Amino acid sequence: MDPALLRVRGLRTHFASPEGVVRAVDGVDLVVREGQTLCVVGESGCGKSMTARSILQLVDPPGRIVDGEILFRLGAPAEPRAAAAEHGVVDLARLDPRGRAMRRIRGKEIAMIFQEPMVSLSPVHTIGHQIAENIRTHQDVSKKEARDRAIEELRRVGIPRPEHRVDAYTFQLSGGMRQRAMIAMALACRPKLLIADEPTTALDVTTQAQILELLQELQEQLGMAVMFITHDLGVVAEIADEVAVMYLGLVVEQCGVDELFHDPRHPYTKALLESVPTAGPRAKQRLTTITGSVPHPYHRPKGCPFHTRCRQAIPGECDHKLPPVLATGTADHPGSRAVRCLLYQTPADVAAGVDTLGEVSR
Ligand SMILES: Nc1ncnc2c1ncn2[C@@H]1O[C@H](COP(=O)(O)OP(=O)(O)OP(=O)(O)O)[C@@H](O)[C@H]1O
Ligand code: SF4
Ligand SMILES: [Mg+2]
Repeated sequence: MDPALLRVRGLRTHFASPEGVVRAVDGVDLVVREGQTLCVVGESGCGKSMTARSILQLVDPPGRIVDGEILFRLGAPAEPRAAAAEHGVVDLARLDPRGRAMRRIRGKEIAMIFQEPMVSLSPVHTIGHQIAENIRTHQDVSKKEARDRAIEELRRVGIPRPEHRVDAYTFQLSGGMRQRAMIAMALACRPKLLIADEPTTALDVTTQAQILELLQELQEQLGMAVMFITHDLGVVAEIADEVAVMYLGLVVEQCGVDELFHDPRHPYTKALLESVPTAGPRAKQRLTTITGSVPHPYHRPKGCPFHTRCRQAIPGECDHKLPPVLATGTADHPGSRAVRCLLYQTPADVAAGVDTLGEVSR
């Protein structure tokens, strides 16, 4: 199995408000492996975006990372004063969000693209200027060189006549072209990890397919890893190597994409797959197989957060005990998948400790 590039352990990001604490992310564990695509799926509000924003320390107050580790393997030798930089692994959760080390990682080592390109593109600067500035922030190159690089980046993402488009403003571009420009900006410094938060949901089906294809091509060319957040299991089937399924601020299962579709383990994963519209005359209907609704974030259930909707819940157990991350797998790859469900806990798990996913060596 490929080594881990990013390993998140026990990540908690909370929002304090007069009404109570929203536990947006409440103990997330996941792994993104070098050069691979991890898709993150789950119902609206389960904490996908907040997990992504936490990794890059982009959580706005009153949100705050209150616990956990975000271990990232740096590409180049770490700066002398970067926290926990021994052997090139840094705990991003311990870095100052506005500090130099985090700013260097953001954009250079890890880049992010959003559903709405205007979140990261400015309306008052040309796209060429923005891409060139991004390059100059991280690399010591002249203005002319940065502009030439910007043109090449625009060409790489399939923008026609990039020598002219480099001087265009975002309002002069179509939705698909803006998304391409945002990808060009994100990839200009060759990040090792690209985090994409539903980057194609706002686009029509044809443009969506083109952008997905482009991302896959660029990933292959650049050897980067991708963490791709999506609601769309069709997209997952197309691009994922691994999948992390989230529910109420927790990753409840991480496994290979084939395992997800052919051998899901967690009752929530099973329910999510059953809720996908079927082929044929009922293709447009969404089957309501997940009973009940997602609890309000102020009223997180005790024990397994899914127990209020789980058909297999064990009374007296699931409503009391938060399931640990249990490593399961196949005969060939023991420990290749992780599931948070008491149904998979063996006496040996209890005795031996439970988490055997690929470690980021420190
Ligand atoms: N500024 C905020 N203050 C309080 N709670 C917040 C804030 N921003 C997000 N949340 C809460 O954090 C939780 C997780 O939100 P997040 O945006 O990560 O969900 P998501 O999985 O990305 O959902 P979607 O699929 O709709 O994008 C939600 O319950 C949301 O209400
Ligand atoms: S731990 Fe219990 S409630 Fe939670 S998913 Fe497993 S069986 Fe269902
Ligand atoms: Mg989101």
